[in-house]
Amino acid sequence: MLDKFSKWRARGKDSNEAIAELETTNIPNHVAIIMDGNGRWAKKRGLPRIAGHREGIKAINKIVRQANQLDVKVLTLYAFSTENWKRPKAEVDYLLSLPEIFFKSELPILKQENVNVRLMGSMAQLPEHTLKAVRNAVEETKDNDGLILNFALNYGSRSEMLEAIKQISEDVAAGKLSSDEVTEEVMSSYLMTASISDPDLLIRTSGEIRLSNFMLWQAAYSELWFTDVLWPDFNESHFAEAIAVYQKRARRYGGV
Ligand code: IPE
Ligand code: IPE
Ligand code: MG
Repeated sequence: MLDKFSKWRARGKDSNEAIAELETTNIPNHVAIIMDGNGRWAKKRGLPRIAGHREGIKAINKIVRQANQLDVKVLTLYAFSTENWKRPKAEVDYLLSLPEIFFKSELPILKQENVNVRLMGSMAQLPEHTLKAVRNAVEETKDNDGLILNFALNYGSRSEMLEAIKQISEDVAAGKLSSDEVTEEVMSSYLMTASISDPDLLIRTSGEIRLSNFMLWQAAYSELWFTDVLWPDFNESHFAEAIAVYQKRARRYGGV
């Protein structure tokens, strides 16, 4: 098995064989990705960190295309965390200009491919130019019923859960809901992922083995897959490999 994977990798971009090996009946419905390692990718090449972020867009394009091709229903991409504000201002500014750069070239293609763009995160703190670009993409693709491309932008799972708890408390206080009625399903419906299913497969690139405040509630039973590959190097073969591994997992949900 491992040999086959290294063979796919060695060949680089041609993922046809990797895809052909996948079981078409067991494609994860929702794949979530922590796209990590852009800075290290750039550093290895003696480039500024932002060059890595720029390069990361190419990987996004490849994976969106392939997810669509494989009939994945939801692809969630962690693009900016509530903790990423700690970075130098110039890097934050660049990261928050990426949605404009991305949608400028990609929106026409996403529309053509029937992709439905969505957003999750705290929008209030985002600069106006970023909001404009992402809201426009959401609006322009709202009637598409193909792949849901869900960007986590200024997203943090703890803040998402806190907001949900506050909202639930207010609704209980207002008599709209009784505390007995607060089930797991109700909690889920107050999260930013209310209308989408939990991730089946969660991928993190760059060798870091942690969740970094990403979908802590939703990932309760996600299959996790970590790779040392840095995000700008992540390609169709790696994605197919992650799905192939996922297909070999026995999902027991606590049962036998
Ligand atoms: C991921 O790459 C992109 C974001 C977190 C926005 P990093 O910028 O975290 O890259 P590394 O982890 O420093 O290599
Ligand atoms: C997680 O990556 C956030 C995104 C990919 C957007 P980070 O690089 O910010 O996470 P840490 O700091 O390594 O945990
Ligand atoms: Mg990182």
